[in-house]
Amino acid sequence: MAAIRTVSSVPYLKFAGPVLDEATIAGVGDVLRSGWITSGPRVEEFEGALSKFCGGRPVKAVTSATAAMEVALQLAGIGPGDEVITSAQSFFTVLNMIVKVGATPVFVDCELVTRNIDLARVEAAITPRTKAIVPTHWPGTLVDMDALLALARRRGLRVIEDAALVIGSQWKGLNIGALGDLVTFSFHPNKNMTTIEGGALVVNDADEAKRAAALRFHGITYLPDRTRDVAFPGGKFNLPDVNARIGVAQLARLPEFLATRRRLVERYFERFETDPPCLTPPRPRAGDGQSWNMFSVLLPLDRMAGTRRQFRDALDAQGIGTGVSYEALHLCTLGRRYGYREGDFPLAERIARETVTLPLTADMTEADVDRVCVAVAEVLDRSRG
Ligand SMILES: Cc1ncc(COP(=O)(O)O)c(C=O)c1O
Repeated sequence: MAAIRTVSSVPYLKFAGPVLDEATIAGVGDVLRSGWITSGPRVEEFEGALSKFCGGRPVKAVTSATAAMEVALQLAGIGPGDEVITSAQSFFTVLNMIVKVGATPVFVDCELVTRNIDLARVEAAITPRTKAIVPTHWPGTLVDMDALLALARRRGLRVIEDAALVIGSQWKGLNIGALGDLVTFSFHPNKNMTTIEGGALVVNDADEAKRAAALRFHGITYLPDRTRDVAFPGGKFNLPDVNARIGVAQLARLPEFLATRRRLVERYFERFETDPPCLTPPRPRAGDGQSWNMFSVLLPLDRMAGTRRQFRDALDAQGIGTGVSYEALHLCTLGRRYGYREGDFPLAERIARETVTLPLTADMTEADVDRVCVAVAEVLDRSRG
């Protein structure tokens, strides 16, 4: 059971969090005692395991998915004067990194139920300055990879998949990361697996891997005389061995974590079939290859007397944590700087207003899900009555 504090004698259910075992904690102790704690052999081992997971494609470990996104954009040669098309419904990372490399974010709306970028709208947003599409995959349903890659190929665009939420999801039997162009993963504690903070970037070939390695570490390349050179400015995003050791153990347990998450999500769906009246993501189908990092629903705000804030506070008072995934990117102060306004992307905005992420961690039980559902139904009932 995922407990951080107790409310009226029941354990507090966090809306997200990791599962760490004693063997992993002992393994971290071994690394700390080994005499090598920053990037070294454990990172190589972790990258090797991730590469195997991604069908043998090269993978570089970094300190976050945000770092991976920055490196990916730089790797794709994206900078001032370029436009990057992305969804208005995603995490701030995407907007921030596009702006940070000097490019212009171009938003399009998402689909309501899957929350994925609306590919039909991407085509219309392409201009001669467009360089890349950056879609965020959502738990439960991946962006249609066939349509995405065909569109990118036809229009000569790079694709940087934000796969922060979906490590372990499969497209037609292939792990996400095993196909496509550039792919980023997050290993933040709220994700399917963790390295505390951490992320990874999947690239296409050895040349890109070499460049990504330099972009994550000062831009440094090593010369035959054992001196170094910097030909372009790199960041400082190398993952320490301590974190990589956790990642190796977590990746080995990923199938088990995903199976538990899926079972819990199926329980959520059983409960939500009748009540409470929230809009849920698409229900899992047997063998669909989808992973479930979050279970986010849309509240029936138009039929509620209270606000989302009141709903979340009421759950919190019962020891149930919730999250908001996500605010509409085009309406944050930085997004508005590019001329966006309310009404531009109605579905992304509706999700931003109504979404609530309910607890889902790989150490919850079905009884925990039942407790959440009873509380949600009761709070909604009160708010309707
Ligand atoms: C969709 C999405 N993309 C990217 C990120 C960034 O991940 P990180 O915290 O590893 O930088 C997050 C983090 O929550 C996310 O939810």
